[in-house]
Amino acid sequence: MEIGLERAAAAAIETEALVVLGFLEHVPEPVRDLGEFSGKALETTLVHRPAGFLAKRLFAIGGGRLSEFTSADLRKAAGTAVRALKAKAVTRIALSLDPGYGSAEFVAAAVEGAILGAFEPDLHKTQKGDKPPVASFTIVTASEDAEAGIARGRILGEAQNLTRTLVNEPANLLPPMALAARAEAMARAQGLECEVLDQDRMKQLGMGSLLGVAMGSAEPPALIVIRYRPADPAASNGAHLGLVGKGVTFDTGGVSIKPAEGMEKMKYDMAGGAAMIGAMQAIAQLKPSIPVTALIPAVENMCGSRAQRPGDIVTSLSGKTIEVLNTDAEGRLILADAMTYARRLGCTHLVDAATLTGAIVVALGHVNVGVFANDDALLTKLLAAAKAEGEKMWHMPLDEEYKDQLKSAFADLPNIGTRWGGAVTAAMFLKQFADDTPWVHLDIAGTAWLDEEKPHLAKGPSGVGVRTFAYLAANW
Ligand code: BES
Ligand code: ZN
Ligand code: ZN
Repeated sequence: MEIGLERAAAAAIETEALVVLGFLEHVPEPVRDLGEFSGKALETTLVHRPAGFLAKRLFAIGGGRLSEFTSADLRKAAGTAVRALKAKAVTRIALSLDPGYGSAEFVAAAVEGAILGAFEPDLHKTQKGDKPPVASFTIVTASEDAEAGIARGRILGEAQNLTRTLVNEPANLLPPMALAARAEAMARAQGLECEVLDQDRMKQLGMGSLLGVAMGSAEPPALIVIRYRPADPAASNGAHLGLVGKGVTFDTGGVSIKPAEGMEKMKYDMAGGAAMIGAMQAIAQLKPSIPVTALIPAVENMCGSRAQRPGDIVTSLSGKTIEVLNTDAEGRLILADAMTYARRLGCTHLVDAATLTGAIVVALGHVNVGVFANDDALLTKLLAAAKAEGEKMWHMPLDEEYKDQLKSAFADLPNIGTRWGGAVTAAMFLKQFADDTPWVHLDIAGTAWLDEEKPHLAKGPSGVGVRTFAYLAANW
């Protein structure tokens, strides 16, 4: 999709559809006469051959109350407009933004919304439907900040769609080594360094916790390491951000096997890793002042004859021994070694993202990401980034009391707690491997996949986290 900028007045824009915002307090002229549009959030109306406009259609979309309208609302409105017009085979779309919404923040959000709205998870359909893809999306504004907003919006929208494309791939087409190849291709295109640690190298290093998970699969594991280095290393004041993402390309549960119903969705169990690959693409283009290293432990959790068994004891890279009481709690096992390795590589701050627990879905549903942290300063930064980028996140507790659940008679710690507070005990397990490094953990099990289509987004992978991680690095 081509992204353009027009500085002319909205009425003078020649396009197939001109999108205008309406509000409860202010409904734009050509729509007001119809009396069928109130301006409430995401309400839409289409007017053909609007009087006084060169556009073939005027598409009004509601923004709700003017005083409460945010860039997050604009992102959704732009996505909703693109999807509604795409369904009508409209391929050239323009969005008129009043001066009040011409800041880089609002323009970026509009561009992101359009790029995200245009995404369809139909790569493997040989019949894509009869509607052509949207060819162009043009921002119409007199604002001086529009160029910067368009550039940033395009970077973030495309990065998030890269993540969605990766998450959408089925596990047969994207095993760990293929995911690594995709990360390498992205890194090459963006001028980033990428190194893939194979099974032998991980054995040498002593990553027994990660390798144990990989045992049951014929697909070899990979630890993907992508590095961004700023032009001036001194400008970062010693900070080095590590982005760790769970890359389980398929989660059968292993010997502690999952029920058949819904298991196909477990191809999304690498959404945390894919979010870090997308974020690194954006970071390469935004060029923050701090070094950023992404680490993606990629494995397939299968139940082959070499699979690890409940009761197995593995030695992690940190030296801690772990009793594997449930092979389906594999995410934390691979993240543990990746986090230890991140600290060895010099990361001073860690952020991890993982489709880690069903329990977070019970706690927060499909709305908020669950956020756990051992450091208030990093937590504050992360939540500010999420707010700025319109990604909903909720701070969850991580009191020491939860650690009582992590006792093993036979090893240093078990990989599961009791039935209760499952998302917290999973985070508490990870905390043991962050040690004294400031760390934030995002459980994205409820938010990385949309079971139903939304007005502004297709069903399937959401790409959650990408914008927040890129913003965090860019605004460090
Ligand atoms: N990938 C799953 C988390 C998950 C489960 C995401 C259901 C979405 C829906 C993870 O590896 C897992 O299986 N976790 C277990 C942990 C349990 C065995 C302690 C879970 O949440 O059931
Ligand atoms: Zn699992
Ligand atoms: Zn999993």
